[in-house]
Amino acid sequence: MIVCSCNVLSDQDVRTACQAEARPRSTGQVYGCLGCSAQCGRCARTIRKIMDEALDAAEAATACNGCAVHPKP
Ligand code: FES
Repeated sequence: MIVCSCNVLSDQDVRTACQAEARPRSTGQVYGCLGCSAQCGRCARTIRKIMDEALDAAEAATACNGCAVHPKP
């Protein structure tokens, strides 16, 4: 699904950018990773939401599996 019509970025493009080794921490860094920059800015909230989901998933995937600091739910 296209989430940024100005730059024709899809939700998958944003997820892919979030999987880069140097994970983007801002929407501006996501645009930069994808070789563009914000134009109208209407997509910023959507991109932020996708980023948060992707980064949470990446963090969960690398978390330990039930130590004293990170007990299993
Ligand atoms: S819709 Fe993304 S910058 Fe305009």
